[in-house]
Amino acid sequence: TRPLRIGIAGLGTVGASVIQILDRQNAVVAQRGGRPVEVVAVSARDKTKNRGFDLSRFTWFDDPVALVKAENVDCVVELVGGSEGAALETVRTALSLGKHVVTANKALLAKHGLELAKLAEDKGVSLAFEASVAGGIPIIKVLCEALPGNTVSRLYGILNGTCNYILSRMELEGLTFAECLKDAQRLGYAEADPTFDVEGFDTAHKLAILTSLAFGTEVDADAIYVEGISSITPLDLSMASELGFRIKLLGVAERTKTGIEQRVHPTMVPKSSAIAQVMGVTNAVTIDADAVKELTLIGPGAGGDATASAVVADIADVASGKAEPPFGRSVARLEKAERAPMQRH
Ligand code: NAP
Ligand code: HSE
Repeated sequence: TRPLRIGIAGLGTVGASVIQILDRQNAVVAQRGGRPVEVVAVSARDKTKNRGFDLSRFTWFDDPVALVKAENVDCVVELVGGSEGAALETVRTALSLGKHVVTANKALLAKHGLELAKLAEDKGVSLAFEASVAGGIPIIKVLCEALPGNTVSRLYGILNGTCNYILSRMELEGLTFAECLKDAQRLGYAEADPTFDVEGFDTAHKLAILTSLAFGTEVDADAIYVEGISSITPLDLSMASELGFRIKLLGVAERTKTGIEQRVHPTMVPKSSAIAQVMGVTNAVTIDADAVKELTLIGPGAGGDATASAVVADIADVASGKAEPPFGRSVARLEKAERAPMQRH
């Protein structure tokens, strides 16, 4: 059988892990995908950087768009990051050329998701983004595939590993915000610009994607009320603790009488609650729905291997020819969400 030939744009924390996982799991991925999967080309900015594997196996491109255009690339894995510039051009060009795309880029999808999904539909190719939300937790596949018997009323959770890691270590180890953020960056959890993490925007990007899947609405990140954790102090955490609470950065989307309310903000949760037990880089997503009642998924929310696990699952789906509409239904059938943004009190 003809192999699926992959081009990987971006060889940072996630890209490097994808190559390593594909190396060790190749036979399993090929079996799941129904055909061999082969990385043929890679792209990053600095060819001299030591990435822990032999680059000479692959065709190298300085420019990710040139990688996309390479004739032997069938599927582009975009792991560059950012909602504009190289990432947007890479994905747009790939889809326009009728090539499949796998991406972990929630910022890109929150801003251009509808346009890109439409392009993928028009061209009959996959746009897969399991890794864009909650790292290793297969939340996209659960929302797209596992719950057709349900109407979702609410979805909420801890969607940013960096913030949960910072809040956990500040509370349990008495470290400063700056020390914890530095460690999150060293461990590869934070975004290239960590403002996206700590000011809540990354959580908002992920929430916008989940809201679209859960409620069948258009992705609308601008409708989200956003407040991050940068002003949370050790005193806030200890006061909350004394009162029997923990502070978590939550993303919440719920159906209200006036529309879908979406919000991101630090929240006091009782220490006895399940969500309060979620510590460190771990994420958790709870779905409230009529048939299943309450479903919670918990797992690693950031980091190279956990995220690459989700990317590799998407690659196997692409190999097997699974090209569902990116948002679970065609873009034309997504409803305009009645906005019910939470007002600052
Ligand atoms: P990263 O470590 O910063 O890696 C980015 C890669 O893209 C690097 O290899 C870099 O090249 C390359 N790159 C950046 N700008 C470029 C440009 N203009 N042209 C060509 N190449 C460029 O990022 P990451 O943490 O792997 O994240 C990648 C994507 O996954 C982002 O969308 C991120 O939001 C998402 N994501 C990350 C995680 C995580 O835990 N890290 C989890 C889920 C999703 P050089 O290496 O040469 O500098
Ligand atoms: N910076 C993100 C986080 C990466 O900390 O959750 C995973 O999307």
